[in-house]
Amino acid sequence: MEVVIRPDAEDAGRTVAGIIHRAIVAGTRTLGLATGSSPLGIYRDLVRRHRHEALSFAGVDAFLLDEYIGLRPAHPQSFLEVIRRELADHVDLDPARVHAPQGTASDPRQEARRFERALTAAGPVGVQILGIGVNGHIGFNEPGSSLVSCTRIKTLTDATRRDNARFFGGIDEVPRHVITQGLATIGAASHLVLIATGPHKSHAVAAAVEGPVSAMCPASVLQLHPHVTVVVDELAAARLEQQPYYREVARCKPAGQGY
Ligand code: GLP
Repeated sequence: MEVVIRPDAEDAGRTVAGIIHRAIVAGTRTLGLATGSSPLGIYRDLVRRHRHEALSFAGVDAFLLDEYIGLRPAHPQSFLEVIRRELADHVDLDPARVHAPQGTASDPRQEARRFERALTAAGPVGVQILGIGVNGHIGFNEPGSSLVSCTRIKTLTDATRRDNARFFGGIDEVPRHVITQGLATIGAASHLVLIATGPHKSHAVAAAVEGPVSAMCPASVLQLHPHVTVVVDELAAARLEQQPYYREVARCKPAGQGY
């Protein structure tokens, strides 16, 4: 696991966009996308790279981490719609190649299995973007999630629903259930890139990176993956004990060694 500390959120977003850009140029054709506010700077910079640096998403398939059960695809807060609005509409990513679990499927359990199969067939995902919840969740794998879980239905904690109420008219409008990639599903990607910014993420980041591997902090499962880059701003890095080491690694990076 490599921890990359950037001065601010914008720089962190640009760093992750650079990782994705290089992966696409190197031949990656399957991306894993996340929603929430953390990746928005990444998407902004990917759009800029598309417009000014000839970054093309032609032929790329994008898989989303999760979706709210009950929200129709065109609902402003469905994750499919968020990705359309923030990224797909502004680049040459074929909308038919943006894949998400369908929140309005009549049988969500079967839909979760269908999505897992589609992802496995198209995978492995080359680069998977991840955010982190303040309770350490990734995707919508809340504390207590099996570390070897596959795509399935989960029930959101009240804390997560409260956090996400800012995107809705209030907590009552936040669906209680979701379909989310499991922790094993996420772990099948070749390169996991987690972005976290702001002081409210510092506890979760420290627990995920330096704490014990535990289902109580689902993001700690990243410690078991062979290729993880955690990109944080100074505020989210604040509680990391090994900061001096992470900074030294960055300073002394061998020439040509990417992330
Ligand atoms: C949501 C998403 C996660 C995201 C997390 C943090 O619940 N399902 O993928 O990482 O919340 O969101 P934010 O980046 O807005 O803090």
